[in-house]
Amino acid sequence: MATTRWSAGWRAVVGVTTVIVTACGSPPSSSTVKTPSGTASTAAHPDTASVWRAPTDQELPTGPLRVSILRGRALLMHTPDSLPKYAGGNLRCASCHLNAGLTANAIPLTAVQARFPKYMDRTGAVILLADRVNYCFTRSLAGRAIPTNSREMTDLLAYLAFISRGAPAGGHVTGEGMGTLARLTPDTAHGRALFMSTCQVCHGPNGEGSTVVPALWGPKSFSVGASMARLERAATFIQHNMPLGRGGSLTPQQAYDLSAYINSHARPDSPGKEHDWPAGGAPFDVPYDTKGHLAFNPPPVLPRRDTRGMIVPAPPSVLTHP
Ligand code: HEC
Ligand code: HEC
Repeated sequence: MATTRWSAGWRAVVGVTTVIVTACGSPPSSSTVKTPSGTASTAAHPDTASVWRAPTDQELPTGPLRVSILRGRALLMHTPDSLPKYAGGNLRCASCHLNAGLTANAIPLTAVQARFPKYMDRTGAVILLADRVNYCFTRSLAGRAIPTNSREMTDLLAYLAFISRGAPAGGHVTGEGMGTLARLTPDTAHGRALFMSTCQVCHGPNGEGSTVVPALWGPKSFSVGASMARLERAATFIQHNMPLGRGGSLTPQQAYDLSAYINSHARPDSPGKEHDWPAGGAPFDVPYDTKGHLAFNPPPVLPRRDTRGMIVPAPPSVLTHP
């Protein structure tokens, strides 16, 4: 049951080392190592995106690469405990990339390595996967960028590469991202009532979360520069994935109402956000001013005192091809 999974995983606030030791204690014997049969038999299939599956633990390599992959996964699952200097609040990567990035419509990270480098219109540049990871550190975790040459970044990328192994060309997979919802007009008062009856049991009456549940607003939540701070993005995530374990049970209208309520509250600022979409074209629900765009329902923002490491330097392509 989903409840058991997250509470067990989160409560066992194990250091990364412990996780690795445990995980390495029982390497699969060669007889249990499966060939990725799905991948092999479907390699010639015209629509590999619908049949490809990320490798399972039985297919983990041995040796130092295995250690790095497992450490990367542990960082995704225990981000604030493992990297307190870089994670701003009580969200972990898997707060949104559910189940260590393996769940469809919960922004899966499977095959992600094959989707990068890619052009990101928010940045106005072609970005690398390491930059994308750091956008989530600085914005979704309201934290700081981790050095791209650090062991931590290497481990995170090793895990992402592992769950991308054998991915179809272009890296497009079923359930990629979180889908989209048609635009609806939200009712924040309905959202509040629904939040109190359905969500606050886990996320707390003030959206503050707990040691096992991430915050939805306030100083420990995602920043105003995160996609989750946008009305349609959060509504879509909620509609597919919340209440946890009962995804799909809310109507799109209810998801919009909840999203509007959640995103009406104060959250950490995201320094430099005014430079987003440098070529214009921000989506309608971006809650801050950008080129040619007026903030949509801007929430109050909590200033960040020491902003070092909170802006990921734009790759050079933005400067040479403005
Ligand atoms: C508050 C929710 C949230 C948290 C927490 C979060 N992310 Fe994300 N992440 C997103 C959203 C939303 C996207 C954009 C998805 C899209 O473009 O469709 C994204 C995109 C990504 C992508 C690119 C995915 C793709 O398919 O292109 C990577 C890689 C990623 N995140 C890694 C991380 C890592 C590593 C962490 C922890 C440091 C993290 N994320 C934490 C919400 C989150
Ligand atoms: C059974 C407990 C539970 C309930 C009920 C629940 N959530 Fe969650 N929610 C979680 C957990 C736990 C996570 C993070 C998943 C993880 O870490 O594995 C989460 C993640 C989220 C996230 C992304 C992370 C963040 O902090 O922004 C949003 C948004 C969210 N929930 C909204 C809602 C809404 C809206 C409702 C009510 C419809 C709801 N949740 C009901 C437990 C719950």
